[in-house]
Amino acid sequence: MFVSRAPVRSERTTFESRNNRETAVVTSTKDEVDIAYSLSNDFFSLWLDERMHYTSAVYESEGESLEQAQKNKSRVLYEYAELGPTKTVLDIGCGWGANIEVISALGIGDAHGITLSTAQYDECVARKIPNSKFWIMDYKDWEPPHGEKYDGLVSIEMIDHLVSPAQARQGLAIDIYREYFRKCSTWVKPGGHFGFQAILRNRVPRTRKDLQDLAFTADVIFPGGLNPRLEELVAAVNPYWEIVELKTRRVHYGKTTAEWLRRLELNETKIKNEWGTQVYDDYVRYLSTCVRAFANHWSSDVQMKLQHIAL
Ligand SMILES: C[S@@+](CC[C@H](N)C(=O)[O-])C[C@H]1O[C@@H](n2cnc3c(N)ncnc32)[C@H](O)[C@@H]1O
Repeated sequence: MFVSRAPVRSERTTFESRNNRETAVVTSTKDEVDIAYSLSNDFFSLWLDERMHYTSAVYESEGESLEQAQKNKSRVLYEYAELGPTKTVLDIGCGWGANIEVISALGIGDAHGITLSTAQYDECVARKIPNSKFWIMDYKDWEPPHGEKYDGLVSIEMIDHLVSPAQARQGLAIDIYREYFRKCSTWVKPGGHFGFQAILRNRVPRTRKDLQDLAFTADVIFPGGLNPRLEELVAAVNPYWEIVELKTRRVHYGKTTAEWLRRLELNETKIKNEWGTQVYDDYVRYLSTCVRAFANHWSSDVQMKLQHIAL
């Protein structure tokens, strides 16, 4: 997933599906999340990996498949969260259940997942992953069943939905991220760990076309959100979490999105027949923009091992 808004104004009104997010003071709503993820599970399964991770993979060796690289990503976060066969975990923004499926195979106690998307929730439940339970739930409203704290938390590229461009311009981003990290800290046992991953926005492109392509992605494919800057996240974890380890994954996301684009293009005829030429063209534009964004340092990705500060 990719939400990187460039600070450009002139082309904003050219997108038919814009919905006045510029003046809004709320972040991604359920309706906006449904736009991003509910096109159809069959559509996404044509170009994501077999489990449908919609986030950066981690490539550990030359020639590795997307499927293996996605498993590597989940294993890294499993280790960051210090999970194991008897440990309980919450996956915040669990998508179609891919991460919980992988960590369940690695060995886990109870695994809970929350998503805002109805289509994702239905798919998570349909997968019948052992010891797993899922909810359609905004993280702001989440309370663990029976008030029980988790051993660990995982969240993969969900935080990019929390701050709108308007909120960022008002200087609210760090406060909103800090409130997210505070809330998460109430769900883990003292000293518990958090395997966290986020897309980042870094540099601003220089050409009008590149700016327009980024704005298109933010407005049409992922309305309502904005990628954080690394320094905002580093500031916002305080005073609740210590950053124990941090790795940027820009090159990995470049490879991941290039592979998504390759698979999308292999399915051109089927996608045009079933979902229409506009959908195909929009997703080619979006994924091509992602590939350029990671190659040119407009965007990056970060994985962090966080530990709850239990003072
Ligand atoms: C880019 S997807 C990533 C999904 C999954 N983590 C993965 O790796 O494939 C972002 C996820 O965050 C969820 N999400 C967005 N805003 C949310 C919120 N306020 N509360 C809970 N989940 C949210 C979406 O429903 C979606 O499942």
